[in-house]
Amino acid sequence: MTILVTGGAGFIGANFVLDWLAHSDETVVNLDKLTYAGNLDNLSSLTGNTQHVFVQGDIGDSALVERLLEEHRPRAILNFAAESHVDRSIHGPQAFIDTNIVGTFRLLEAVRAYVKGLASDSLQAFRFLHVSTDEVYGSLAKDEAAFTERHAYEPNSPYSASKAASDHLVRAYHHTYGLPVLTTNCSNNYGPYHFPEKLIPLMIVNALAGEALPVYGDGQQIRDWLYVKDHCSAIRRVLEAGSVGEVYNVGGWNEKTNLEIVHTVCALLDELRPRADGQPYHAQISYVTDRPGHDRRYAIDARKLERELGWKPAETFETGIRKTVQWYLDNQDWVRNIQSGAYREWVEKNYAGRRA
Ligand code: NAD
Ligand code: DAU
Repeated sequence: MTILVTGGAGFIGANFVLDWLAHSDETVVNLDKLTYAGNLDNLSSLTGNTQHVFVQGDIGDSALVERLLEEHRPRAILNFAAESHVDRSIHGPQAFIDTNIVGTFRLLEAVRAYVKGLASDSLQAFRFLHVSTDEVYGSLAKDEAAFTERHAYEPNSPYSASKAASDHLVRAYHHTYGLPVLTTNCSNNYGPYHFPEKLIPLMIVNALAGEALPVYGDGQQIRDWLYVKDHCSAIRRVLEAGSVGEVYNVGGWNEKTNLEIVHTVCALLDELRPRADGQPYHAQISYVTDRPGHDRRYAIDARKLERELGWKPAETFETGIRKTVQWYLDNQDWVRNIQSGAYREWVEKNYAGRRA
């Protein structure tokens, strides 16, 4: 048996591929375009593992996807591939439209053609699992109830709008063509292999480099945080037992303000790698111009997944963030390899124009 994973060289996709191969003897075909966010270093532990077949390519390349489906005959497809960074979507939305909307559409078309040729028992078992985000639901006020699966879609950034469009396409392919789909909407992930353009790895990397820790606006925006390996276990569980056509919210029950997150990272670094001058890392915090259209709060109600499929996160925020900080301390070569010219150009583009 084989599964096809898209975007499996990115942060969550790579964690998923590693996690899958640790739990299963099924082959993973990993289709990834290797954009700036795709990194084969994330998968270096799989070198020589014949259960992992890596293919560099675009989910929007219909001929390639059709060929892969014919050749490998996967029993499931898990779609992680996306442009994923909100700030990049504000600077330039085109790539988000191309991959998240058009790419997902082309992938769905190829899958629709593929399943037509499946025998009825293979079709019964086949699943297309689309990995999405809580950001499609918009922003919550402080006292509003957490997002359930029935919350209206109110995406606010080009990123979340493009993910919302892809979710709608996936839903429509089930409703109209009977494609056996599953959708997961997850909150903010953190953990190993997280590209240091996102809040937690950026703060760790900047703190260790003695650079400013740029907090957008007042730092009181709230996110729900989930350790990436818990997201992987949720996806495995939904693939295994989710009801076709259903949506499952995935979250960690860890609502934190950004400022709390940054202070927690600083305190862990003070303990694990104190600054040479004895000063606390939080002295490096710098409040900078806010993100345009910044969503104030996300909160996920993950009770459906717990009630129907018995999934719960294994990590608390305290255990997960400690493991994460330690991972970055232990993997400084991984960090150095990622900080290419293109990374430095992004940092310049996103932060130079922000007033401290
Ligand atoms: P990421 O940016 O780290 O990785 C994305 C991967 O997709 C990269 O390896 C990239 O090369 C690949 N890719 C991009 N465009 C492609 C294309 N056209 N064809 C093939 N591959 C392509 O993203 P991530 O944080 O790992 O997120 C993975 C998925 O999970 C995304 O769909 C994202 O929307 C969703 N998600 C992320 C989070 C989070 O906190 N990071 C939370 C919820 C949902
Ligand atoms: O909620 C799920 C989403 O979480 C995923 O769908 C996205 O792919 C993922 O990138 C993430 O989106 P966010 O915008 O919430 O993540 P980010 O790490 O970019 O920012 C987290 C919060 O921290 C957000 O409120 C903005 C703030 N921030 C971010 C950066 C990079 C800062 O204050 N300073 C920063 O330098």
